[in-house]
Amino acid sequence: MQNVTLTREQAAVFQAIEGTREHVFVTGRAGTGKSTLLNHLNWHTQKQIVICAPTGVAALNVGGQTIHSLFRLPIGVIADHDIDQNDTVRKILNAMDTLVIDEVSMVNADLMDAMDRSLRQARQRPHEPFGGAQVVLFGDPYQLAPVPGSGDERRYFTDTYTSMWFFDANVWREADLRIYELGEVHRQHDDEFKLMLNAVRHGAVTAEIAGVLNDVGARRPLPEQGAITLATTNETVNRINRTQLHRLPGQSIANEAEVNGDFGGRAFPADERLELKMGAQVMFLRNDNALRGDGPRWVNGTIGTVTSLQREVRVEIDGEEHEVEPVTWEKFRYTWDPAAKKLHREIVAEFTQFPLRLAWAVTIHKSQGASYETAIVDLGPRAFSPGQTYVALSRLTALDGLYLSRPLRPSDIIVDRDVERFMAGALREIGLDAAAPGAAG
Ligand SMILES: Nc1ncnc2c1ncn2[C@@H]1O[C@H](COP(=O)(O)OP(=O)(O)OP(=O)(O)O)[C@@H](O)[C@H]1O
Ligand SMILES: [Mg+2]
Repeated sequence: MQNVTLTREQAAVFQAIEGTREHVFVTGRAGTGKSTLLNHLNWHTQKQIVICAPTGVAALNVGGQTIHSLFRLPIGVIADHDIDQNDTVRKILNAMDTLVIDEVSMVNADLMDAMDRSLRQARQRPHEPFGGAQVVLFGDPYQLAPVPGSGDERRYFTDTYTSMWFFDANVWREADLRIYELGEVHRQHDDEFKLMLNAVRHGAVTAEIAGVLNDVGARRPLPEQGAITLATTNETVNRINRTQLHRLPGQSIANEAEVNGDFGGRAFPADERLELKMGAQVMFLRNDNALRGDGPRWVNGTIGTVTSLQREVRVEIDGEEHEVEPVTWEKFRYTWDPAAKKLHREIVAEFTQFPLRLAWAVTIHKSQGASYETAIVDLGPRAFSPGQTYVALSRLTALDGLYLSRPLRPSDIIVDRDVERFMAGALREIGLDAAAPGAAG
């Protein structure tokens, strides 16, 4: 992953982050290489950067910390409550040049403002946005939205902010956010499919486009093997996985994870108790990290079938059998080294398990960031959140891998009004500035 050669537009954004102190929002359609660029930044920056993300899984994916643990923030709306900071937190917030946030579309305005206040406080620069630190945001607002909280929390947002989205935080009245849109899609290669996905993203699906998607997706029998189902709810996903595991003959074998340190409970990167059977359809949760001449045997998202559970776990991928070993996920925390005047990442917890999960089905939410060659999209009775259908369809690398459990309906395509407002303004800004990459989309 760290050895990808950046394209020109990706390199230009890297330079903008590296060469200026501007606050930057890196956005772009699914598959334009946002995560790839973030990873590159992590390895190649000269700055003292700290990486965080709104959820545990997203943080683990980019080797960072959750926002709440980095800033030691309480759960729920923070509003104008005092922010408690101990010495350790203050030192880290002081030492960083740049705060990088991945999957920023899930960060709400209140959390954005709390980070701003916390940085001002720690860096003792009460009148400077983010206390003078550079903030770099990655994400696509047409994909995951912030999770709406309790009724009271929702009321707080309605009364206080234009919307829940990070871009409506108060800090942006004082700070400029420079927007870069990556324009080149790398996950898909067929121009026609890219256009269709873009129409889904923007809620501009014509009858003709729906016709093509449904003709390909919903008119042939669903594959029995080798395809993952992307469903809207955990319930559906668990039901499909349990039913399929149960249907297989033979005994299941459970593998308990080894957990060391404090993982914060819910943020395990894989099942604590992984139940497998011979013939089970599984998905890899990590890239293959064995260095081999002929490239990685699997990547995060690769689907395979369990072919052995005796002595060793073996998984067949495209007709080839591979032995799979348990891997260790590391949960990081940033610390400040006063002697070297450097920020260090230290490991605070480890989770060891086979990098596999049952994969007849996953939620669309969990499929964020992944790529699949074949998938069954099951929108259930209806898609219910903005971007859901777009996230699901844009996981496919090509149209002929798309299966639909039922034809798409116009009501499945939901685009958030606030996202349209913000992105229209943002793109207008980019259009005025020829130096920004990706403006042509
Ligand atoms: N410069 C590049 N060269 C080759 N492949 C690339 C490059 N950039 C991205 N890719 C590939 O394109 C695919 C999508 O990239 P990535 O996951 O970074 O996109 P993303 O913008 O984060 O997508 P999403 O919004 O779905 O999370 C990956 O398979 C990645 O390896
Ligand atoms: Mg990504």
